[in-house]
Amino acid sequence: MVKTTTLGKVYLLGAGPGDPGLMTLKGKALLETADLVIYDALVSPAILAMINPEAEQINAGKRRGRHSKAQDETTALLIEKAQDHAIIVRLKGGDPFVFGRGGEEMADLRRAGVPVEVIPGITAGIAAPAYAGIPVTHRGYSCSVTFVTGHEAAGKYRPQVDWGAIAQGSETIVIYMGLHNLAHITTALQAGGLSADTAIALIRWGTRPEQSELIGTLGTIVAQVEAAQFEAPAVAVVGRVVELQEILGVKHSL
Ligand SMILES: C[S@@+](CC[C@H](N)C(=O)[O-])C[C@H]1O[C@@H](n2cnc3c(N)ncnc32)[C@H](O)[C@@H]1O
Repeated sequence: MVKTTTLGKVYLLGAGPGDPGLMTLKGKALLETADLVIYDALVSPAILAMINPEAEQINAGKRRGRHSKAQDETTALLIEKAQDHAIIVRLKGGDPFVFGRGGEEMADLRRAGVPVEVIPGITAGIAAPAYAGIPVTHRGYSCSVTFVTGHEAAGKYRPQVDWGAIAQGSETIVIYMGLHNLAHITTALQAGGLSADTAIALIRWGTRPEQSELIGTLGTIVAQVEAAQFEAPAVAVVGRVVELQEILGVKHSL
């Protein structure tokens, strides 16, 4: 007789940027019923507190420069755990499909025959600016927005960002993982035609109680980051919309 096994289902769940109030209802229900949750480093403690206390929890935290190895190991772990867990939540910061490698994990799981579904989350590139009083589009200021990675480390995953084309083609530029490359990025955007006076905002730990911001221009921001010892994780927003912070910036009840 052929032995049949029922594989568990993996949910690639977006945790949002940190404020637990920004978790979706669907995501919260899944966390409360999960048998196993494998979560990334940027998922906030307030979101982790929603997890079913009976569930097994694994920190798959990725560190800069170790992405590929951690990624392969995590996918292998998901496939292994699907053999004997019914509801597996792969919890990722923000949205799984926005610089979250959700597509890669989903493809690997599909190839391995593991049922998988994605549950979107609110991405940091929209939510962090919003909590800082910066809409990524605004009539009269910007009718286009580009989300781009500033992480261009050597290795297998090497996006080749055309900063000149982005400078010309988008009125708002939201940069993820850009802090370590900020000098290169700000120089490349200016070489692409943006003036040194173009406004830029850095928002760190957006939507969390510890959210902090640094506002400057393409010409000044690198020195400001050094002076303030401003650290990751942060998103950068470039463009006129940053000026709206003066009228839209309010304290959120976090
Ligand atoms: C690997 S990417 C993951 C992005 C995530 N999937 C999303 O949709 O927000 C990690 C980067 O997202 C940004 N990020 C994530 N959470 C953030 C937050 N709460 N505040 C500011 N930036 C954040 C930072 O640029 C960080 O380096």
